[in-house]
Amino acid sequence: MAELILGQVLSYHGDPFIHGPDAVHIERQGGVVMLGGEIVATGTADAMRKAYPRANVTDHGTCLISPGFIDPHVHYPQTAIIASWGKRLIDWLNTYTFPEEMRFADPAYASEIANRYFDLTLANGTTTVCSYATIHPESVDAFFTAAQARGLRTYAGKTCMDRNAPSGLQDTAKSAYDDSKRLLDKWHGQDRLSYVITPRFSPTSTPDQLSALGALWAENQSCLMQTHLSEQTDEIAWVKTLYPTARDYLDTYESHGLLGMGGLYGHAIHLEPREVDRLVEVGASLIHCPTSNTFIGSGLFDMETMVARGLRVGLATDTGGGSSFSMLRTMAAAYEVGQLRGTSLHPAQLWWLATQGSARALRADHKIGNITAGMEADLVVIDLASTAAIEQSTRRAETIWQSIFPTIMMGDDRAVKAVYVAGKLT
Ligand code: GUN
Ligand code: ZN
Repeated sequence: MAELILGQVLSYHGDPFIHGPDAVHIERQGGVVMLGGEIVATGTADAMRKAYPRANVTDHGTCLISPGFIDPHVHYPQTAIIASWGKRLIDWLNTYTFPEEMRFADPAYASEIANRYFDLTLANGTTTVCSYATIHPESVDAFFTAAQARGLRTYAGKTCMDRNAPSGLQDTAKSAYDDSKRLLDKWHGQDRLSYVITPRFSPTSTPDQLSALGALWAENQSCLMQTHLSEQTDEIAWVKTLYPTARDYLDTYESHGLLGMGGLYGHAIHLEPREVDRLVEVGASLIHCPTSNTFIGSGLFDMETMVARGLRVGLATDTGGGSSFSMLRTMAAAYEVGQLRGTSLHPAQLWWLATQGSARALRADHKIGNITAGMEADLVVIDLASTAAIEQSTRRAETIWQSIFPTIMMGDDRAVKAVYVAGKLT
């Protein structure tokens, strides 16, 4: 039977970075009809009631009905070490991350954390993530098994590292290729799951490993490839010593077949002009991780330039370098980073980044990230007065964006009233 949900329905008919806030339409008394995992119709509540008189109706009142949040750069294995104190990137990896990632050799632990991770992300209204696993193939199996059981559209890959990591966390160029290929063949395209080729970053891969993964990507062009790029200045200096003939950090990927459309480059803060030009030329995606970039002390992403250059930009938590599972909190951090750079991102732009912008970065915007007929029915229902602090602030709102912005800045999982995955209430 068709499900009809009523509320203030948010949809996009353009990109608010290009077309302004009016690219976002909010139907104040709207409805969304879902059937068979998809959105079959949307419009005014009255029109939907008339068109689907036998639908099962849920009225969410003045809550905002939005596409589910999409988080295109996370490390699910870092769930338990989120908010670990006092380190910058390389020290943080060695002190907190690598010891925790060692534990994923145990499939039972990997499964426990994968399920805990999805409990947390769904509670925060996030319906799609793109995750790094650990070097252990079992960590990919655990993640996809948990995602599949929940019916989620999900992206992930085995993290590959063959140097500068503890020996228990190293593979080789050959085993990285073989294990990644086996996992790709097993999971890619199953239900709503996609395999992502995942060299962690240039410091933890030999040139041979990068080449092997570049070859795997060339052989499997329907896969995305994810890695880290120019997150901290010390890291960039280290990359220069490890790859002395590379023109810049991006060149360590480019010269091994790891630059292309479908490449997701996390952080991308301290880019040189040649790097930006090449990323634009190939149509790559950059993933902005603002809570991580402030928490680990990495720097301020240049949203204005990257968007003006036409790059696809997604917005992500980077759990657990990032300090929150919430995409609302992540939008707030993106706003604050923008302010520090002299760019006030409009709430329409922030919301778009957390939904359709991230879907575009994942090249999945024809399936997720919008509320229109034919899209997959992954939705989040947001209470715009979820706390006393937010409620009193919205009382003065004269426009819809004024009533949404306090939730962006102060909201968290308490604002998430309902989540639908493939049309089903979770
Ligand atoms: N660079 C390489 N690995 C990582 C990671 O796990 N988190 C972050 N933030 N940066 C990285
Ligand atoms: Zn990361």
